[in-house]
Amino acid sequence: MTDEIPARDLPVSARAPGKCIVFGEHAVVRGAPELLFALDLEAQVVVRRSERTVLNAEPEGAEPNPYFRSALDLAWRGGGPIAVRSVTRLPRAAGLGSSAAFVAALAAALASATGGTDRAALAQRAFEIERGAQGVGSPGDTSASVAGGYLTVNAGSSGRLWEVARGEDRWTIGRVDDPGWVWAVAYTGVPRSTADAVRAVAARFGSDGGGRLLEEFRRVASEGIDAVGRGDREATGRLLTRNQELLREVGVSHPRIEELLRAAEPAAEGAKLTGAGAGGSIVALPKAGRETELVRRLARAGGLPFAVRGTPAGASLVDLPASAGR
Ligand code: PMV
Repeated sequence: MTDEIPARDLPVSARAPGKCIVFGEHAVVRGAPELLFALDLEAQVVVRRSERTVLNAEPEGAEPNPYFRSALDLAWRGGGPIAVRSVTRLPRAAGLGSSAAFVAALAAALASATGGTDRAALAQRAFEIERGAQGVGSPGDTSASVAGGYLTVNAGSSGRLWEVARGEDRWTIGRVDDPGWVWAVAYTGVPRSTADAVRAVAARFGSDGGGRLLEEFRRVASEGIDAVGRGDREATGRLLTRNQELLREVGVSHPRIEELLRAAEPAAEGAKLTGAGAGGSIVALPKAGRETELVRRLARAGGLPFAVRGTPAGASLVDLPASAGR
């Protein structure tokens, strides 16, 4: 039963990957398709019983992390005080899914300590926790952290993995093949709020010309999903660049994003911001064989670059050493 989160007693440790959105961020919130992959940078948590509930031994009176609070509310009601430690190499508030990875890993650990769960239920739970903390958004990030690999959202029923629901809203999550590409992502160093960016874009979609823009987002993401599916780097690159023009038009680019995109250009098939934008990170598809050059260019332009690829591993438990106080 490798596809499930088995029941265990505390202490429990779990890990989950971050994510990179290739096509369709923001428009996905309005029902348009999205393509994203779980990347090979992850968050790991250890949950143990404790005298009082703390995250990373925060001092008394510190403002509680909203994702942690939401997880406790939705997945640990009456479970007693716990101490949670989390570690990650994912930069925070950077559009690379650090919150989704943290939420998916924590939800997996808490689900394990309360009888275990399957992946579809974990994806639903992780989305509810993230949504509870953020107040806006779609379930792509948390599903990628739970499932691993390349995923589509709102792209029809082919490869259907599961559906995530909230009230009347439904999102179909689908599996697509990993093209095996190495991508470059780079953090601008400018943190931003996903919720603020999503609200600003929602206003833009709701105003004059918003419907036409949304249609173009839809077209680019659908064609992008096809291009990645057939391993067509050139077409993917062109569509990345077109998607960035649209994101610029809805107002979520940033001068630092534009600088990194310019730096990437000579060594990339195409590039765009990834995630909510307004700061955050970019993703670039290297020209074949020029991965290292691309990463170097992004570093020289002041970004924090990573060469990443899709990881097939979704959220899973981690064995703790016997000395961990079972
Ligand atoms: O939080 P981020 O930067 O990974 O952005 C998520 C992508 C959005 O489409 C902007 C929001 C969402 O929840 O789909």
